[in-house]
Amino acid sequence: MNAAEKRFSSRMEVIESIDGFVGSQVDALLMSADKCWQPSDFLPDLARTDWAESVAELRQRAAALPDALLVVLVGDMVTEEALPTYQTWINRLTGVTDTTGASRTGWARWSRGWTAEENRHGDLLNKYLYMTGRVDMKAVEITIQNLISRGFDPQTENDPYLGFIYTSFQERATKVSHRNVATLAKRAGDERLQRICGMIAGDEARHEQAYKLFMNRIFEIDPTEAVRAFGTMMKRKIVMPAVLMKDAVEENLYAKYSHIAQRLGVYTARDYADIIDDLVQHWKVPTLTCLSGHAAEAQDFLCGLAVRYRALAERVVASEPIPFSWIFGKAAI
Ligand SMILES: [Fe+2]
Ligand SMILES: [Fe+2]
Repeated sequence: MNAAEKRFSSRMEVIESIDGFVGSQVDALLMSADKCWQPSDFLPDLARTDWAESVAELRQRAAALPDALLVVLVGDMVTEEALPTYQTWINRLTGVTDTTGASRTGWARWSRGWTAEENRHGDLLNKYLYMTGRVDMKAVEITIQNLISRGFDPQTENDPYLGFIYTSFQERATKVSHRNVATLAKRAGDERLQRICGMIAGDEARHEQAYKLFMNRIFEIDPTEAVRAFGTMMKRKIVMPAVLMKDAVEENLYAKYSHIAQRLGVYTARDYADIIDDLVQHWKVPTLTCLSGHAAEAQDFLCGLAVRYRALAERVVASEPIPFSWIFGKAAI
């Protein structure tokens, strides 16, 4: 066994050793279907006799949403709708894999329960956007199919240490993004959308806590490898899951969507820096002791990273309006 293989197999032992802990936390970290909100709680009930009035009310509110906010919301929805990609991904992580499809291990129960909660996000945003009548649904559906079919490589290999660093970061990023959309929806006078994005952000916040908690355990048991994995992931950079998004014509759709998100302040380079800072503090990286070699290098690298990203964040520039197929070719600014 070479050094890399040895390192990987010792990481696997740690993951297996905390399966019982994960299993004991699943019920507290996730909400069962009978206690959870469901998409229909926030949408007009089409079985009622007054359904047309509630749909009209939804559409009237949504008519005031700026095009740029709609674009960001569509991008967020497309990202959530690519859930099959994320479940496939989590199931590839060694030691986490659900080997039967209905396994009772802690990790398998977590990954299925997490997926089940996430499934409500794309569902709700999709139905809401459909009802607004402001979105070219066919263009959006093409984007979703393209994204799932193209896939996503977060560069976590099949390593759960890298994987849970990634999800700790990613869930927090998603929480920030949905929360900021909620604020902008309120400003535009759409309280229903504010509630929708607020509820989704609440789920993401719980998921963030869960992944951080799993990593807490890993940091306690195996600080050297945990900090190395954190450093490795941040060197590779956290790429957003919709990076390969494309509609019928635009190959580089993600760059355009993310530009609008940045310009609206929904998810910015500053947020990226803030998340690094939060994770570095949460796992107490600056005060980890007895690290040597690559782990000590990773610690130094991580402790200076947020400051470096903040310096870069100042340099974001404004740009021209960008047309999107999602809003019938109109330009968003
Ligand atoms: Fe989500
Ligand atoms: Fe989430």
